[in-house]
Amino acid sequence: MPPTETPPATPPSVRSATDAAPAPSAAPSDAVAAEIVALRAQLERWAHQYYVLDAPEVPDAEYDRAFRALQALEDSYPEFVTPNSPTQRVIGAVLDGLVPVRHAVPMLSIKTETDTTAEGARKFDASVRKALALAADAPAVEYTAELKFDGLALSLRYERGELAQAATRGDGETGEDVTHTIRTVDAIPRRLRGCAAPVLEVRGEVFMRRDDFESLNERQREAGGKTFVNPRNAAAGVVRQLDANIARQRPLAFFAYGIGEVDGWDVPATHAAMLDALAAMGVPVDADRAVVRGPEGLSDFHAGIAGRRNALPFDIDGVVYKVNDRALQQQLGFKSREPRWAVAHKYPAQEQLTTVRGIDVQVGRTGKLTPVARLAPVFVGGVTVTNATLHNLFELRRKDVRIGDTAIVRRAGDVIPEVVATVATERPRHPYVPNFRMPRQCPVCGSDVVREPGGVNHRCSGGLFCAAQRKQALLHFAQRRAMDIEGLGDKIVEQLVDSGMIRTLPDLYRMGLATLIALERMAEKSARNLLVALEGSKETTLPRFLFGLGIRNVGESTARDLARHFGSLDALMDATPEQLLEVADVGPIVAASVRTFFDQPHNREVVEQLRACGIHWQEGAPAERPVLPLAGKTFVLTGTLPTLTRDEAKDLLEAAGAKVASSVSKKTDYVVAGEEAGSKLEKARTLGVPVLDEPGLQALLADGARPPAA
Ligand code: IVH
Repeated sequence: MPPTETPPATPPSVRSATDAAPAPSAAPSDAVAAEIVALRAQLERWAHQYYVLDAPEVPDAEYDRAFRALQALEDSYPEFVTPNSPTQRVIGAVLDGLVPVRHAVPMLSIKTETDTTAEGARKFDASVRKALALAADAPAVEYTAELKFDGLALSLRYERGELAQAATRGDGETGEDVTHTIRTVDAIPRRLRGCAAPVLEVRGEVFMRRDDFESLNERQREAGGKTFVNPRNAAAGVVRQLDANIARQRPLAFFAYGIGEVDGWDVPATHAAMLDALAAMGVPVDADRAVVRGPEGLSDFHAGIAGRRNALPFDIDGVVYKVNDRALQQQLGFKSREPRWAVAHKYPAQEQLTTVRGIDVQVGRTGKLTPVARLAPVFVGGVTVTNATLHNLFELRRKDVRIGDTAIVRRAGDVIPEVVATVATERPRHPYVPNFRMPRQCPVCGSDVVREPGGVNHRCSGGLFCAAQRKQALLHFAQRRAMDIEGLGDKIVEQLVDSGMIRTLPDLYRMGLATLIALERMAEKSARNLLVALEGSKETTLPRFLFGLGIRNVGESTARDLARHFGSLDALMDATPEQLLEVADVGPIVAASVRTFFDQPHNREVVEQLRACGIHWQEGAPAERPVLPLAGKTFVLTGTLPTLTRDEAKDLLEAAGAKVASSVSKKTDYVVAGEEAGSKLEKARTLGVPVLDEPGLQALLADGARPPAA
């Protein structure tokens, strides 16, 4: 929405938003007025990009900073406050393509507390106590603490228990009808369990999980299509898709956090009980919530979630505190359209602005050349980031990243940091910076760089001749889930390869103590330990060995399937493509990769030399292998189990023939849940997937291990 004021003489910039310094020559109030107008225009523009175009130009943190700068100015100069200022209303608008829906009860926003320390929680509690006129010695106030999901607010209208309409928030008064896309979301029930109230509007957040977001972007990248900036944007795009069939292929999740219009339902007396009641009706409600007391209860929750934030399967940008008692909520009421009884307490942002200082090219294990942005150090998602991936040349071009640009860097969860966009308005006009070009020769070994026809990736054709690929191949071979050579980390591999001491995998097993000690910073004890680890790694299993070889497209589970099917390495090495295709889950791509690998005489040579070094495993003829008890079953692990680690549980399940997946779907057979199991457990319950605890898992394994009755 355009500002009502006259536009500023100079275009607003991010800098003026943060510094808020009046021009020295102008009268102070004129300068303040100009600054306020500039900030409003800037915020409106960013809000339009965010809410309507789904293409934000700056990170949320930047928006928040400008918003706070405006709030501070308006607080000091209340005479300049207008009803249309972004601080006075909920921003947003209705898209043309979708039908507008007027909300019976407006969908409001909540106040944001940006002080990310415990002080933020204390301030909110103090404001509640003040508004309720509580005496200093009155008991602590009870709150519900929840996650602040980073998606899109949604109102689900159930009539007589049936999903009748789904609407976005829009400007808070009028949203858009998105029933068609929301009906494709598995997590959202079409019918409420045990509730036939004439009207019950459930409000919550629709979002995309990080793993679903990563795979969607991966698919888009492979297809050369448009990638999404972050899960929130991807979710917004899906929800407003005019074509429900596209929406169906892009999975969304939903958690309820409140209600709108209600007719014929006795709303429980507390917020927490209301959420429990919704959960009992089959509505997804996140389990990561708590009823707490006083400011310490709030800040403990904030700190506890902060410690787990990266491990959550979805993005959050803070937590939300709500006065639990609904009667007290009513008493507290609203101030400038925000409830006095709720606040969002933020965390440090997962997206930040920084400058691109250079663009390097990294060579991976399979020879893939990845352009990487070298950045001015920036604190994002809990760490200082100095490099961020640009994925491939085409992605880099689409984002038009140039040296000197201001870029939005995102780091969420364990995902590697990436440049999601550049801020065009921030580009320095000169000097002219040419477009990045992919090198024609590998920057590490000088071999030719090739691109698969029609593919998006460039590769070094040097194979193990290339030191970069050799280093990665060694690290891959040594990793815990492959040959498990403890102590063979980045630094040592780097030295071993750079000094020319190791050219191929078998060289690893030919090193003596003297050679190792000669390495820089290598103490005798570590050298001895490494030799012991190398010796110990010689006794292995065929799946670990196969996985460790680093054959393209052969991950851990494919290695296991191949080993199980062929029984011996020789049988596998000599298998024809047709025989390879007989293995469950092996398609033409994997079959071709395996064939190509073993068709190279030097790869066969490596295998023979490794065997000659003493690497061995038990082999069996395929026919001797028993049918595994949990073959064909898919499990998902979540939370902390009392005695087994994640890896141990995974190993046990896989040894019994089961597959272990990372996300719950209708195809999941069992979810194994431990302490602090979060949304996966919730999803299992929603989808009716059986849930096991550790004893349950052990029982199933013991049961399954028993030979089937003859
Ligand atoms: S309560 C009247 N609870 O954050 C109170 N909001 O401005 C309504 N959000 O638009 C909001 N998680 O989209 C609430 N647990 C949560 C939330 C949450 C995410 C979003 C919501 C809203 C915005 C707050």
